[in-house]
Amino acid sequence: MLLRVGVLASGRGSNLQAIMDACREGRIPAQVVVVISDQENAFALQRARDAGIPALQIKPESFAGKQEYEQAVVSALKKYQVELVCLAGYMRLVGKTMLDAFPNRVINIHPALLPAFPGLHGQRQALEYGVRFSGCTVHFVDEGCDTGPIILQAVVPVFDTDTEETLAERILEQEHRIYPEAIRLFAEGRLRIEGRRVLIEDCQGEA
Ligand code: GAR
Repeated sequence: MLLRVGVLASGRGSNLQAIMDACREGRIPAQVVVVISDQENAFALQRARDAGIPALQIKPESFAGKQEYEQAVVSALKKYQVELVCLAGYMRLVGKTMLDAFPNRVINIHPALLPAFPGLHGQRQALEYGVRFSGCTVHFVDEGCDTGPIILQAVVPVFDTDTEETLAERILEQEHRIYPEAIRLFAEGRLRIEGRRVLIEDCQGEA
């Protein structure tokens, strides 16, 4: 059985593309069954349509508040029987409505080595701080901003000659590698959350 994945994206959708490609090529036992964006012109929606996947735009401005907006997103995800929600460049803080509907079933990718540089512009923050290494993090989502238990991370060097764009590009390459990998581990039932830690069990169920 393939894990039913719903992706929320606000923009370009290159992580969405990496996930869809991994599914299509059979590298992960999952399928993207719906893509939802809060932004009308998100290229992610076009990518989904090109792949024959339902692409929905749900505008937060059309709702009385965050709770009502998230309820609409949850209803759409449930309609497609989504089992795992993947945030892929989704530029909103997820609230209680969505987390209660999908407990320990919402994951996110962030372009920095959390807990360093959460929030917006992780790559710019790393560059301005002067770190020699940065990277990306896939984590479970909780009500904080990029604070949930960490599933996978990848490290890249930061060079003196880097700009925000060159660093972002180097990090993105790793994002496209570890996001599908994290979904694979989830789909195989190998992630166990213990407090702040996520233990990765081997295929026999041993951590
Ligand atoms: C990615 O770098 C992702 O890590 C980042 O937005 C970009 C989306 O690119 N997400 C965040 O900063 C979330 N706080 P994409 O639309 O091409 O996947």
